[in-house]
Amino acid sequence: MIVPSTSAQAVGTELAAILEEPLASVDVRRFADGELLVEVPPQGDRAVVVAGTGSSDVLVELLQLQDAVREAGAEEVVTVIPYMGYARQDQAFESGQPVSARAMAKAISTGTDRVLLVSPHEPSIRDFFTVDTEIVDVASQLADPLPADLTDPVFLSPDRGAIELAETVRDAYGDGRTDAFEKHRDRETGAVEIEPATLDVADRDLIVVDDIVATGGTMSEAIAALGEEPARVFVATVHPLFVDGALSKLQNAGVDAVYATDTIDRSVSVTSAAPAIAAALRD
Ligand code: R5P
Repeated sequence: MIVPSTSAQAVGTELAAILEEPLASVDVRRFADGELLVEVPPQGDRAVVVAGTGSSDVLVELLQLQDAVREAGAEEVVTVIPYMGYARQDQAFESGQPVSARAMAKAISTGTDRVLLVSPHEPSIRDFFTVDTEIVDVASQLADPLPADLTDPVFLSPDRGAIELAETVRDAYGDGRTDAFEKHRDRETGAVEIEPATLDVADRDLIVVDDIVATGGTMSEAIAALGEEPARVFVATVHPLFVDGALSKLQNAGVDAVYATDTIDRSVSVTSAAPAIAAALRD
């Protein structure tokens, strides 16, 4: 049975349809003091919990679902993490700080036999889990919604770290060049400074690709740093967190369309991570 958390309804529903497995209807209650309580239906041999770690409540829901499905009869628990929040805290950047991704991974590992981690920000965080953990890379899905008639496309990443992502989307699209900006982020203020990429983008279609769009600051700064006027500007991202009015920020930056997967369910989630997750679950 596929058991989705409240924040993973879209991808969980799609996954159940592809695998032709029953979709659990999960009841989630909140008590007056803020505590959560989930309730799942009776389980078969294998339960697939689909839940992210994007916020404290979502993490608590994930841990409760893992425990509830065992209580409800599951012999094997697989945990699919569509969006691994806290993955950007993969080291202690200042003394006294935690390795938050490791703390999350340890907690999640206690309630599951296997983990599928969808396009994590840092692939190395897989090693923090203490059970069998595989990465499911869904970046190539982002080529699907792109217009078929792109003009001389350039797939651009806002920093060198995301260049492989831009290459993956370009390869899946089947045409175009790749390039990267240089990004510097002030850890104290969060302010982002972007240096222009080297490729000429004048009159070409530009696809800015990143794994996460949170505030939209990185993307809009990158677009503002362009020397020339591209024909059209598209944004493609795996995990559309879209906080703090990010979508309007991108629209004001001149973005023509935004495409994302459903690892986080947003209005821009036009392609699904479910086919790749389903393939991994069939293995
Ligand atoms: C960080 O390295 C990530 O890949 C994204 O670039 C970052 O999380 C985007 O955040 P924001 O949209 O707030 O600039």
